[in-house]
Amino acid sequence: MKKILITGALGQIGSELSVEFSRRYGADNVVVSDVNSEGAKLAPGNAYEVLDVTDAAALEAIVKRHNVDTIVHLAAILSAKGEQNPDLAWKINIDGLLNVMRISMSMKLDRLMVPSSIAVFGPTSVLYDSPQETILKPNTMYGVTKVIGELLADYYYKKSGLDMRGIRYPGVISYRTLPGGGTTDYAVEIFYEALRSGRYTCPLSSDACLPMIYMPDTVRATAELLEADPDAIKVHGGYNVGAMSFTPAQIAAEIKKYIPSFEIEYAPDFRREIARYWPASVDDSAARAQWGWKEEWNLENMTRDMLVNVAAKLGIDFKL
Ligand SMILES: NC(=O)c1ccc[n+]([C@@H]2O[C@H](COP(=O)([O-])OP(=O)(O)OC[C@H]3O[C@@H](n4cnc5c(N)ncnc54)[C@H](O)[C@@H]3O)[C@@H](O)[C@H]2O)c1
Repeated sequence: MKKILITGALGQIGSELSVEFSRRYGADNVVVSDVNSEGAKLAPGNAYEVLDVTDAAALEAIVKRHNVDTIVHLAAILSAKGEQNPDLAWKINIDGLLNVMRISMSMKLDRLMVPSSIAVFGPTSVLYDSPQETILKPNTMYGVTKVIGELLADYYYKKSGLDMRGIRYPGVISYRTLPGGGTTDYAVEIFYEALRSGRYTCPLSSDACLPMIYMPDTVRATAELLEADPDAIKVHGGYNVGAMSFTPAQIAAEIKKYIPSFEIEYAPDFRREIARYWPASVDDSAARAQWGWKEEWNLENMTRDMLVNVAAKLGIDFKL
């Protein structure tokens, strides 16, 4: 793991992962890429490449040019956006993924990290403490592409020995880059609206309990899994990783502790149907036992940190 290429690096996760990976491994050893050209300014010190992951020849040329031996493949269309444009979700999440997998194998790369998602679960899955191994029959195109990604990871690991790693990320909460069109985006938007207007209209129902993770835990989990000893890794498609679980009503109550006048109302839309068949919590004992996963952030300390940092970003005078 000497030279890492991150695809989709301008997104919610990539914009922070590229900073943390540069700190851990040296900026010279991290090449960041995304489909548009705005990245150079976000990644001082890193090489930046404009890369559409559906263009296999361009991907191969970048891997060669930078002597890349590890790819962290973040480019994707997320759940809500994927339901609005299923063909695009298939094209980026499957055609793009296959390019990355094939090039990783043909160029004998050391490691490939492809995130999965809690969207792999569905109506027939166990939805409380969802097990690592359970029925995975999602009812969204995004979920379908993530299950296929996990199956391909297992298949190519067995066929070619490609060292594939993945996490079923819960909803990711962060303040640096806005989320890109997922069902859990509400848990970020709520902080902006609480601070800006004191009101939030939630697209999920008040009792939609979902697993979530704060960004510092997300990037640390990703680095720790990537660094883990290959012999310890028994799951190649996607590890369940839990950190916190809450409903919109619970996060609203937590925010109200610091902004007592804050009000939430509910106007559930199509995202309620997506959230309905996602787990309330996951059993992440495999991640804990095999590579030492342990969260540091919960609803309480995450809420305080988000309020302080979103307020600073918005230029709003706010004290805890
Ligand atoms: N954010 C979450 O809550 C969450 C939860 C579960 C899983 N994930 C997974 O984590 C990964 C990263 O998610 P994210 O939240 O950063 O997503 P995001 O939508 O914020 O970012 C995705 C990035 O991919 C880029 N992209 C789109 N099409 C591309 C293409 N053809 N070629 C290259 N880049 C392209 C976009 O420009 C964007 O910068 C994805 O695989 C996603 O499925 C995210």
